[in-house]
Amino acid sequence: MKLLDGKRLSGELKDEIKIKVDTYLSQGHRAPKLCAILVGENPASQSYIRNKVRSCDRVGFASEVIQRSVDVTQAELLSLIDQLNKDETVDGFIVQLPVPDHIDDQELLLAIDPAKDVDGFHPYNFGSMAQGMDAFLPATPYGILLMLERAGIATSGKNVVVIGRSNIVGTPISILLSRKSDMGNATVTLAHSRTKDLKEICQRADILISALGKPFFITHDMVKEGVVIIDVGINRIDDLTKKSGSRLVGDVDFEKVSTKASYITPVPGGVGPMTVAALMMNTLKSYQKKLGLKDE
Ligand code: GUN
Repeated sequence: MKLLDGKRLSGELKDEIKIKVDTYLSQGHRAPKLCAILVGENPASQSYIRNKVRSCDRVGFASEVIQRSVDVTQAELLSLIDQLNKDETVDGFIVQLPVPDHIDDQELLLAIDPAKDVDGFHPYNFGSMAQGMDAFLPATPYGILLMLERAGIATSGKNVVVIGRSNIVGTPISILLSRKSDMGNATVTLAHSRTKDLKEICQRADILISALGKPFFITHDMVKEGVVIIDVGINRIDDLTKKSGSRLVGDVDFEKVSTKASYITPVPGGVGPMTVAALMMNTLKSYQKKLGLKDE
């Protein structure tokens, strides 16, 4: 079994981004800038944002977190998005999800200028991605593709099973892996809560991608020998042996499944850091486009 070490791989990608940014700075260009809108005090969102800011620092990007209280109005957020759309010094920005129930997140996503939508959530980018046109790929699927590519795991002709059909992970990764492209050409099955015979479907998978958010859902008996496991789940479970009283686990019973897998991502330290690296890649791409710079 080989560990797909997202922490290490994302570090390599960030080093490569930093070298490019340093070159642009030495040529007299400004630094790329990423902004994030954070609403409320969701601890998981706060932690994700901290990681994104830390990564910006590491690669030489400017960053800004715009925080609003949980009772912010839809109109205030739309006005903020409008300002960021117009701000020439901002290359990309994200609205950290989830937002409170009284906020219509779809309306927010539609208001983001697709040219600054470095999360790749706007339907313009999603549609361009689906048609194989140039687009910002959504960060988690893009991170998974980069991880498979860097690990030398071919996807062409493979049976891929994706569990979970969200707009930000399951659906786009299914589209990307089935496209006629270098990291595509797989035969993809998209499984979800109404899927029948899930165990038999999973047993046929050469690559199994779980993005449903249920701890220990993927068990040893559901996978075949040599499977590649990509665990997108991030679930907090009670663990009284820890000082905090809890720990993070994925969707996969790592200990037992890893004995059969050829490759497997850990949680934490697998897909999560790759998502952040992919966001940095998208921000760099937006910056290069805006300033008319070549990829050094
Ligand atoms: N919430 C969970 N994942 C993500 C992500 O990739 N981007 C944003 N904006 N919010 C998220």
